[in-house]
Amino acid sequence: MSVYSIAIDGPSGAGKSTLAKEIAARRGIVYVDTGAIYRTIGYYMFENGIDPKDAESVTAALPAIKVDMAYHSDGIQHMFLNGRDVTSEIRLPQISMYASDVSAIPAVRAYLLEMQRDMARRTSVIMDGRDIGTVVLPDADVKIFLVADVKERARRRTRELAERGTPRPYEQVLQEMEERDWNDTHRATAPLRPAEDAETVDTTELNFQESLARLLSLIERKLGV
Ligand code: DC
Repeated sequence: MSVYSIAIDGPSGAGKSTLAKEIAARRGIVYVDTGAIYRTIGYYMFENGIDPKDAESVTAALPAIKVDMAYHSDGIQHMFLNGRDVTSEIRLPQISMYASDVSAIPAVRAYLLEMQRDMARRTSVIMDGRDIGTVVLPDADVKIFLVADVKERARRRTRELAERGTPRPYEQVLQEMEERDWNDTHRATAPLRPAEDAETVDTTELNFQESLARLLSLIERKLGV
């Protein structure tokens, strides 16, 4: 099969990244985590004391920011901010809201669009984000919209943060998740919503293996292989 693309969109904690990583490994294609790119821009604002909601200041800072992605032998998508590896820093819990805030600014989205499209032109990808099926890759061969109840997503994220050594109380995680959901679905530019031709999969009642099986069969059905 020639170059193909799979888009997975949905709110945070629905399981996009863990599932996309496994699907990429099984199909031998590249997993692109687009949230990491917004996190890198958010991290720049955090480090430089720029209000991530201030569209004018954020837009003015963009020419000074160079974002690069690289895939190392560890299989992790490394993010570089002006040449510096910030792969771990962008996962700090406080960076989530910075990423969500800068992602609402049209100039930021425009700045990152070509970079994302370019990846999908060069190689087969499974790309996860919020607007992949609607804006970044409107011609993606498979479009999946992954959802789950917000309480279940908050439980999963709380577990994940504890495992990563940055524990946070469930109530706080839930509140931040609801705030981010609202932000991401209500922004004027490229809000989180399913593409018309996306298949919605609800993982609330499904474990990882069940979710994986569901997505793999959906992908095989769509691609014919
Ligand atoms: O997937 P994530 O939680 O790492 O993403 C962080 C934020 O980046 C998310 O709250 C919204 C934004 N984002 C976006 O607007 N568009 C994307 N394609 C991916 C992420």
